[in-house]
Amino acid sequence: MSTRFFQTTPRIHYGPRALEQVGPEAAALGRVALVVTGRSASSKNGSLDRLRGLLENAGVAVAGTVRVESDPSLDSVVAGTELARAKGCDVLVALGGGAALDAAKGISCLLANPGDLASLEGVSGLRQGPPVIAIPTTAGTGSEVTRVSVLTDTARGYKMLLVGPTLMPAAAILDPELTATMPPHVAAATGMDALTHAIEAYLSKLANPFSDALALAAIETIADNLSLAVSAPDNGDARAAMLYAQMQAGQAFSNASVGLVHAMSRPMGARFGVPHGVANAMLLPVVAAYNRPACPRRMARVAQALGRRTDGLDLPAASRLAAAALTELAAELPLPRSLAEVGVDIEALPDMAREAAENGSSRVNPRRPEAEDILELYRKLV
Ligand SMILES: [Fe+2]
Repeated sequence: MSTRFFQTTPRIHYGPRALEQVGPEAAALGRVALVVTGRSASSKNGSLDRLRGLLENAGVAVAGTVRVESDPSLDSVVAGTELARAKGCDVLVALGGGAALDAAKGISCLLANPGDLASLEGVSGLRQGPPVIAIPTTAGTGSEVTRVSVLTDTARGYKMLLVGPTLMPAAAILDPELTATMPPHVAAATGMDALTHAIEAYLSKLANPFSDALALAAIETIADNLSLAVSAPDNGDARAAMLYAQMQAGQAFSNASVGLVHAMSRPMGARFGVPHGVANAMLLPVVAAYNRPACPRRMARVAQALGRRTDGLDLPAASRLAAAALTELAAELPLPRSLAEVGVDIEALPDMAREAAENGSSRVNPRRPEAEDILELYRKLV
């Protein structure tokens, strides 16, 4: 057996009013903060003002606020980096969905490493930048506990990844009160992203006992709580369960990688602006059916974790229940179901399939797809 590296978690604060911990965390890490947030939600629901107050009361100056789009562009990260450098920021506080968190990680990385962002993709040994405190306001990406930042190169129509231990936030603050104002379609899409992380980590060729335990726990919790968290956003228990489970899913895939669903959803996002969770939700049942013959035992375990009874069934029958359960779950949620609904041009599918086949996530998928296989999968969703 060879040695494995398990990336352990940042300091995590979880539960109601966890946001209050941002003061002591930031004061321990720096003196001048840059806040990175999304376009508007944190202003509308008052959480941005609360965050500023908590930082200032703890003696941490807020030098500026950077707002990023839902798929953070390289330009936004460069602008944030210039501001942080000009103001001498020594701690970054990200409040928002995965976009804000990934942008903050990108800013930290660019502050510490020479060259432009595109040249840092695939570089191992990235230097450590200023610490990031990650405060998610959606329950999906798990970015607060991962060593990955996904950024969109709008010029190339391409989603690039920065990966490495130095991308891991120093602290994560998970406060379920912050997810209460998520619109239902955002709760649905981000929740399905989290479920995709857990399932892809569990089925990955890089799966290991550390990631398996996290992935299975996350699948069970999400199956039990996602529909309720979407349909009844005032249900604090369901929201808190989702926030915890998406963090476990993030830890799982940070240690085992994602797979073909992510390889296929990236071109949909980069070329046509399809929200990441929306694309994943659409692809997940189709890819599960494709993967099943390569990993029937694990797929049957996924079916069980999704709440399906498999007693008395042979392995092929038990394993088929996973894709069926995923189709049923997705159907309960307010999400689009076809490529046409989300504006994907079918003329682009062959190029998208080639790009997905070359993606690193396809290489660790339990079944290794050729571009033609991927094209066939896309066509099932036309
Ligand atoms: Fe994802």
